[in-house]
Amino acid sequence: MASIAAPEFALSRIEHPGRVAADARTAILGNPGFGTSFSDHMISIDWSEEKGWHDATLGPRQPIPLDPAAAVLHYAQEIFEGLKAYRQVDGGIALFRPEANAARFNKSAERLAMPTLPESLFVDSIRALVDADRDWFPAIEGGSLYLRPFMIATEAFLGVRPAKHYKFLVIASPAGNYFKSGAPAVSIWVSEYTRAAPGGTGAAKCGGNYAASLVPQGEAIARGHDQVVFLDAAEHKWVEELGGMNLYFAFDDGTLLTPALTGTILPGITRDSILTLAREEGLTVEEGRYSIDQWREDAASGRLVETFACGTAAVVTPVGKVSGRDGEFTIGSGGPGQLTQRLKDRLVSIQRGETPDTHGWITRLD
Ligand code: PLP
Ligand code: COI
Repeated sequence: MASIAAPEFALSRIEHPGRVAADARTAILGNPGFGTSFSDHMISIDWSEEKGWHDATLGPRQPIPLDPAAAVLHYAQEIFEGLKAYRQVDGGIALFRPEANAARFNKSAERLAMPTLPESLFVDSIRALVDADRDWFPAIEGGSLYLRPFMIATEAFLGVRPAKHYKFLVIASPAGNYFKSGAPAVSIWVSEYTRAAPGGTGAAKCGGNYAASLVPQGEAIARGHDQVVFLDAAEHKWVEELGGMNLYFAFDDGTLLTPALTGTILPGITRDSILTLAREEGLTVEEGRYSIDQWREDAASGRLVETFACGTAAVVTPVGKVSGRDGEFTIGSGGPGQLTQRLKDRLVSIQRGETPDTHGWITRLD
């Protein structure tokens, strides 16, 4: 769908009538978990065929009025992003590669027949929200302010066609560890369900993909695992990704492999950043295919030394154990590996401004 450029980013500000009290906020920030608490404000911008993007506001976070016939409620025309604002070592605040999220958001929009958003509008609205909610950064190790930009079809219409009205919103949530267990390595379950088929929406970040992953993820949890891993839909053989993270495999000859972006895998920004950082570390990095049988065989022979998951929410998380219909296998010692830790440290130190940003990945707010 064609997008109409925003004439100018005029953001109206609506005064907040009652922010979360300081002591309640402090309690939240001491133990934020993931995705359960929210900051005071939100961004809201509307789109219509006639006006394009309009009525951009920064106001109190509050319920949004939605007609019961709104297209998002019936045909799931919804897309979202996930990125974090990080407190810098010098006390400032920065976003990590927000323009990459903006670009992926627009790709998702195109796939879901939704209007695209000018990248500057996406990034500037996030900046404005983080600026308004500066006192929402968790004071804990690994804490950040998780940003959730999303777009929904708001037109009241039950015919099946792209809606003519949309709302873009951004909310913010103080975040700690994604995995509750805080375990040194996570354990994953190989699902019999598939996440995405060729020609489908696997490469788009749309809510429907996640709705379809809930039963397989529930199975993983019920069996005592942290996450589900999906194989390809056509042959049920090739390892694709987890419910909310990409995967990397490290071998004893210094090779690092990640599943190639075939159209059924989400092109993770963390995945892309690690491609760059690992090459700088002198590793041979490949994007290719890796079968579940090979994974098991390589773990048993010791050729595979580490496996890790990566994503905005999970950062870089070692995978220790894999279970499925054909039994269970352990990777390396079953705990965190050295390479995983090294790549995580490099990534986190760039995100926190401890290492100079030589890649142009950091957008400072001040
Ligand atoms: N794969 C899926 C299905 C995800 O939901 C995510 C999280 O956004 C990722 C991979 C990792 O993407 P990113 O590194 O951009 O957060
Ligand atoms: C993210 O990492 O931002 C995601 O969207 C993953 C989700 C499972 C929280």
